[in-house]
Amino acid sequence: MQLNFNGSVQLNSYPIHIDAMNLDDVIDIVNQEADYLQAEKICIVTDFHLDNIYMNLLDENPIFPIDDELANTGFFVSKVVLPAGENAKSFSCLQQILEALSENAFSRNDIIIVFGGGSIGDICGLAASLYMRGLSLIQMPTSLLSMIDSSVGGKNAINLDCSKNLIGTFYQPKAVIINTTFLKTLPEIELSSAYGEILKYKVISKLKIFSSCNLSFPSTDCEKNLATLIESCLKIKIKLVSGDPLDKGERRFLNLGHSLGHAIETNKDFTIPHGIAVAYGIYLASIISKNKGYLDQVHLSDVKNAVKKIVPLDDIDFNIDDIAIILQKDKKANGNTISMVLPHKVEGLIIEKININEIASILKDNLK
Ligand SMILES: NC(=O)c1ccc[n+]([C@@H]2O[C@H](COP(=O)([O-])OP(=O)(O)OC[C@H]3O[C@@H](n4cnc5c(N)ncnc54)[C@H](O)[C@@H]3O)[C@@H](O)[C@H]2O)c1
Repeated sequence: MQLNFNGSVQLNSYPIHIDAMNLDDVIDIVNQEADYLQAEKICIVTDFHLDNIYMNLLDENPIFPIDDELANTGFFVSKVVLPAGENAKSFSCLQQILEALSENAFSRNDIIIVFGGGSIGDICGLAASLYMRGLSLIQMPTSLLSMIDSSVGGKNAINLDCSKNLIGTFYQPKAVIINTTFLKTLPEIELSSAYGEILKYKVISKLKIFSSCNLSFPSTDCEKNLATLIESCLKIKIKLVSGDPLDKGERRFLNLGHSLGHAIETNKDFTIPHGIAVAYGIYLASIISKNKGYLDQVHLSDVKNAVKKIVPLDDIDFNIDDIAIILQKDKKANGNTISMVLPHKVEGLIIEKININEIASILKDNLK
């Protein structure tokens, strides 16, 4: 299955390959893309966790020795291994990637391959956009969340102190290679995390028929279901991003649940996976909408039931005052107000500036 990211005037188009692939299939696609880009060198960036599972030479049988195989086809291959999870999105890891590229004399035609989830994808996108003002990037996402969302669309970022995604650029990959076989090793909690973003897509696409919409999730136990699920999510993302690549208009709907989600992640020192925090964020945004009369109780109950399929809601223990302080540092905040995406029973989604004290007071009253 292949999708195409159809760029607007500001963007190039790029292929998104989606399939259950073996090592040979992946090497063939990388070879084709590298030929097209006239690359001679490839830097594979991954995290310690994935390196150990898939590529580590110390392991007698690495199940995906992509670095060896690409080196066999004549490329100069280097590998950078970063910490797993959100810890990779730091200045020191950015420096590590940039120094590896420079030490190995990478040129602008050469390629970074992301072998990882959204965290590795985000830092690699930034590194690729900065090195020589732009070097080729191929996304090879390994988590479901990165397959349905972060590998496409060109947003990247690292975190600064307690501000999530504060430093970043827009920079599109040259190709995305989505191999659903990688999901066989994905921990259950990371699968649940992807469902937070899947819920976002569901709300974006179904809201106008919300009252009749049972937010159930497709089963991910077979490769065909997975490919279809990934394709349907990416179609929504591509539609919104290609019309608004720089996040000034309707692409912002993809931020549903994210301001509150990021604040929750930050407040919990990134011990909650991103998509789980987004699921909480969608629930809290829906509480705000209901309070403002934009949703009826039936809509709020629909969202609540969907979120409960991802994460139990009985043990919510956020300190709303702390969340409010973090919200003030969000990219979408201006003084004591913040632009939030809110579900709306008539409009679908709306973007509204809300006073952060008002948010805190609604949440305190409704989460008792
Ligand atoms: N740029 C965007 O448009 C965008 C969109 C959504 C999310 N994001 C970002 O993506 C990040 C979250 O990404 P994520 O959910 O992929 O988490 P992640 O990249 O932090 O990975 C989470 C964990 O899953 C492990 N993992 C990944 N794939 C695996 C596999 N196949 N087998 C075994 N373990 C595997 C990783 O090693 C890590 O331990 C956040 O930083 C978020 O801000 C960016």
